[in-house]
Amino acid sequence: MTKALAGVRILDFTHVQSGPTCTQLLAWFGADCIKIERPGVGDITRGQLMDVPKADSLYFTMLNHNKRSITVDSKNKKGLEIIERLIKECDVLVENFAPGAMDRMGLTWERIQELNPRMIYASVKGFGPGPYEDCKVYENVAQCTGGSASTTGFRDGPPLVTGAQIGDSGTGLHLALGIVTALYQRTMTGRGQRVTCAMQDGVLNLARVKLRDQQRLAHGPLTEYSQHGEGVPFGDAVPRAGNDSGGGQPGRILRCKGWETDPNAYTYFITQAPVWEAICDVIGEPGWKTDPGYATPKARLPKLIEIFGRIEQWTMTKTKFEVLEICNKVDIPCGPILSMKELIEDSSLRATGTVVEVDHPTRGKYFSVGNPIKLSDSPSDVKRSPLLGEHTDEILTNVLKYSAEEVAAIKASGATEPPAKKQAAE
Ligand code: COA
Repeated sequence: MTKALAGVRILDFTHVQSGPTCTQLLAWFGADCIKIERPGVGDITRGQLMDVPKADSLYFTMLNHNKRSITVDSKNKKGLEIIERLIKECDVLVENFAPGAMDRMGLTWERIQELNPRMIYASVKGFGPGPYEDCKVYENVAQCTGGSASTTGFRDGPPLVTGAQIGDSGTGLHLALGIVTALYQRTMTGRGQRVTCAMQDGVLNLARVKLRDQQRLAHGPLTEYSQHGEGVPFGDAVPRAGNDSGGGQPGRILRCKGWETDPNAYTYFITQAPVWEAICDVIGEPGWKTDPGYATPKARLPKLIEIFGRIEQWTMTKTKFEVLEICNKVDIPCGPILSMKELIEDSSLRATGTVVEVDHPTRGKYFSVGNPIKLSDSPSDVKRSPLLGEHTDEILTNVLKYSAEEVAAIKASGATEPPAKKQAAE
């Protein structure tokens, strides 16, 4: 079956997480993704959080499936020539270096357009133009500067970062959408364009409901926040709301059977207004269906602590999966807190390819997250990540059409080999 992005060639100049997330998605959709890495070193994540000696880390392997790897030293004259030839052969260049790094290599947007006017040049940076534009940025910095940390956690605790990598992977996702949009526009204009995503912007986009609440605050208290029911006044900025639901329907994380020993024996439970009567029946409080003190959402708001306390008395008698089964039958929205151990063992996620087992020549078998976006005409096969420079010869010969003599001269120049290896060869 043809892949959706078959025929699209990506020059992947990314490292760490945000950029590789983007190019991995494009590779899963069928783009030929050529990852340029520094000779002898490669993407720094190859050696970070290593669990198997002398094998690429899971950090690297899980972000670089379906790619080819070529090692090229961009600071070597011949190396730069190779990169410029690759720019002519590719449709998209993706990078997430620190601000100015590409320009220092001599690869300015102007130069790239000169080399290939159809090129889509896509970048992740920490911030957009403004006072912070020169800053290097990592995940948690983006979560903190994009509004997520200030609105995550409990009111009486410090700001909190989340485990989901909304700064890195979230921005990679945004960038991928920008790239395919630019590719679509190119089919009509014939021109490439610049695509940029700032991590601060990506996080703020994902925290959009909190910017909504910031403006609502000017018109009165946020009545669906627990603190309103608890009689705690609001300040001038959106507070941290614990596990309140962001959509206006009161929600909480409640203990389930086994919580004393299992840190994940919890369920998320939403007291959605249309199913209030079903909730009353399930928890054994049928009188609350008609009692004016409980029957309407407005009447319930100041009593949420009492109401969720009563619901929790019930959830603590059931496992999180029993709660799901009972509530699901009567459309009460709830969700068990699933651990990573449970997710990796989940047979339905394995069946859909969202959790996949991959074999790797140096590390052996491991699990990864497959493509979460399913296209009916372009299913994603997850192929192992490349070893460092595994495809250097293949790309020089087949993509760039260098002759055998030229390849030998390139190697001798140090453009594709680490200095130590070069010296040893001399
Ligand atoms: N050959 C030779 N040099 C290479 C190279 C290659 N193939 N690939 C990269 N380099 C060099 C660059 O030329 C640059 O050198 P310079 O600073 O002398 O110009 C350097 O490596 C780029 O490194 P940099 O991006 O500064 O890496 P870092 O480890 O210091 O910083 C980040 C890492 C992530 C903080 C930074 O890249 C960044 O802020 N990126 C944008 C935001 C982002 O994506 N953050 C999230 C990452 S998950």
